[in-house]
Amino acid sequence: MLNIAVVGCGYWGPNLIRNFNALPGCRVKTICDSDSSRLEHLKTLYPLVETTGDFDRIIKDDKLDAVVIATPVRFHFEMAKKSLEAGKHTFIEKPMASSATECKKLIAMAEKKRLVLMTGHTFVYSTPIRKIKEIVESGDLGQLQYISSRRLNLGLFQKDINVAWDLAPHDISIILYILNEMPVSINCQGKAHVNPNIEDVTSIAMDFANGAFVTIQSSWLDPNKIREMTFVGSKKMLIYNDVEPIEKIKIYDKHVEAPPHYDTFGEFQYSYHYGDMCSPYLKMTEPLKVECEHFLDCIKNQTKCLSGGEDGLAVVKILEASSKSLAKGGAQIKIL
Ligand SMILES: NC(=O)c1ccc[n+]([C@@H]2O[C@H](COP(=O)([O-])OP(=O)(O)OC[C@H]3O[C@@H](n4cnc5c(N)ncnc54)[C@H](O)[C@@H]3O)[C@@H](O)[C@H]2O)c1
Repeated sequence: MLNIAVVGCGYWGPNLIRNFNALPGCRVKTICDSDSSRLEHLKTLYPLVETTGDFDRIIKDDKLDAVVIATPVRFHFEMAKKSLEAGKHTFIEKPMASSATECKKLIAMAEKKRLVLMTGHTFVYSTPIRKIKEIVESGDLGQLQYISSRRLNLGLFQKDINVAWDLAPHDISIILYILNEMPVSINCQGKAHVNPNIEDVTSIAMDFANGAFVTIQSSWLDPNKIREMTFVGSKKMLIYNDVEPIEKIKIYDKHVEAPPHYDTFGEFQYSYHYGDMCSPYLKMTEPLKVECEHFLDCIKNQTKCLSGGEDGLAVVKILEASSKSLAKGGAQIKIL
């Protein structure tokens, strides 16, 4: 039986507590939050769980095997560092840390101590995303030409990170999982409308060596909740709408062909192909449950995580490049 502590019981932490608490083979022994009202509330839901406002108590507790960190990102590195130093398997919510340097330090520590270090890239555990990866890899869409991703909503405004660091980790982790490669360069533009210096609207563009082009729009300033990705291939197109209760994925048998050669402008005709639309059946499960199970499996079997430290680092590298590009008015930044 693995003993787990969850640190940070704000918006997201309670979802982790609920899932770990329901899984066999582990128990949530302790929950930690600096806000005592959050602990009081959670105590009403989980009366047997210990509560503390002091993170060091978690670190000193020899009975704890793993620590799950769901605090704002500025605390991730220090907490994860202490957790790994204390010999505990460590799960960090996305984004893994505030810089690539911090991520690399955590990866090295986890490797040295042979501990599991996992990042909360929830979408790589979701049925629709796994289905899209399968479809893309099968070649059904043809050569992937571009992906556009939109994650828009009114709020929730963060005080310490911009909207790209808050929302784009989801899109970036999905895209890296599906394409299985890093972009060669990125550009990012954005604007802060509500809090000075904290962009609430950003637009990231990424170029991949294989020719794929990706745009990611993130916003806390939109009247509608939009969670949509479009995958355009040379043969077919796919739309993933995560807000749809059913038929989240739709595949359109549509494409366009330019004529191979022509003699006069009058002869030039694009050929538009319109075919059927189909929506594959998806057996829905809660991605977070699959993610939490995976963390436990990796600890028990000493296996590599699907969203391990290196995957967390890849996302943070792109976010860091997005901040550099923003500071330079959208300049292209090479990813090394
Ligand atoms: N995987 C996902 O789909 C997903 C969704 C939402 C948020 N998140 C991530 O989860 C993390 C938390 O986000 P949130 O929206 O729940 O934030 P939040 O601000 O709602 O909650 C954070 C909690 O951490 C507590 N806290 C802050 N400093 C602390 C400290 N030093 N010691 C103990 N507790 C402390 C706060 O009191 C608060 O209750 C972020 O990294 C965020 O990106 C992930």
